[in-house]
Amino acid sequence: MPRPILATIHTAALSHNLARVRAAAPDARVWAVVKANAYGHGIERVFEGLRSADGFALLDLDEAQRLRALDWRGPILLLEGCFEARDLELCSRLGLWHVIHCNEQIDMLAAHKTERPQRVFLKMNSGMNRLGFAPERYRAAWTRLNALPQVQEISLMTHFSDADGPKGVTAQLQRFDAVTHDLPGERTLSNSAATLRHGAALAARSDWIRPGIAVYGSAPDFPAHSAADWGLQPTMTLASRIIGVQQLVAGDTVGYGSSFSADGPMRIGVVACGYADGYPRHCSTGTPVLVGGVRTRMVGRVSMDMITVDLTALPDAAMGAAVTLWGQSPDGALLPIDEVAQAGDTVGYELMCAVAQRVPFAVV
Ligand SMILES: Cc1ncc(COP(=O)(O)O)c(C=O)c1O
Repeated sequence: MPRPILATIHTAALSHNLARVRAAAPDARVWAVVKANAYGHGIERVFEGLRSADGFALLDLDEAQRLRALDWRGPILLLEGCFEARDLELCSRLGLWHVIHCNEQIDMLAAHKTERPQRVFLKMNSGMNRLGFAPERYRAAWTRLNALPQVQEISLMTHFSDADGPKGVTAQLQRFDAVTHDLPGERTLSNSAATLRHGAALAARSDWIRPGIAVYGSAPDFPAHSAADWGLQPTMTLASRIIGVQQLVAGDTVGYGSSFSADGPMRIGVVACGYADGYPRHCSTGTPVLVGGVRTRMVGRVSMDMITVDLTALPDAAMGAAVTLWGQSPDGALLPIDEVAQAGDTVGYELMCAVAQRVPFAVV
């Protein structure tokens, strides 16, 4: 029998969340962001739930090819554009739209021989200082692109660094508007946090929105808001079972480094899930976990293949009891991935992306 760990992808929740972000930007078209193999969910596994998206945004050409193999004929946007000249061949062949964030990419495009002019998204670095042209260089880049026979249409793009926090989007938006106000072309600015928190302010520049994490049912601004606050549903459940039970007395310790010791009599359940499955090793005593749908806590250190949980208040939880590491328990109780991520000093994004290859997946 295989280890009892399983990751389940919830198709209806993906569709629900997509509709939820659409409602926050009703006049926009929606790129469902499926980079990093759909935030760890698997492109093929999420496709059905997200097929009502207007387009898919991602980074890797092989992921774009996988979408085309699923017979997706609509728009696909390469969020970081092309990495080398021959990528442009594939853009032509697969009809991919791509971001232009630097002069080297314009040079590659200018040298590209194609019958088919391409649609590009010109990215401004409006303050995040990752990818994009500085505001004072943006118009020159636009003019250069506009003169190329290889370019069919130029859309305008930037990305916010602080849409999820108190700094917000105002300063970056002002920089973007100051440079682009009279340029033609569609605009795409908003990730999940910008869509949910600043939708009204951004509506006029939201021909396309680019939500990722909200589509996967995690709050972009946790703990200020929870996924439930935003009306989002978990799209991934990581579940396992109790594979061992220990009875402790006061002073007994649990796991490597004896980091947890019992104050009194305790029952401990051993769960088939560890950091080699993608469970965050930084989680420590107190991290929430559901056993039989009831919330309890992890105790001690996460080891490679197992964690240990407190069953003292759950006398009926025995060998084989269902454990929910995050997501939805079989009886419908919820454990938000954001709470587990917070206990591991990380974010829901990382947990989703880190589910290990050895974990089997199911789609419901
Ligand atoms: C350019 C770009 N757009 C959109 C997104 C989606 O962001 P989120 O998952 O926070 O909605 C990302 C993700 O990092 C991104 O890099």
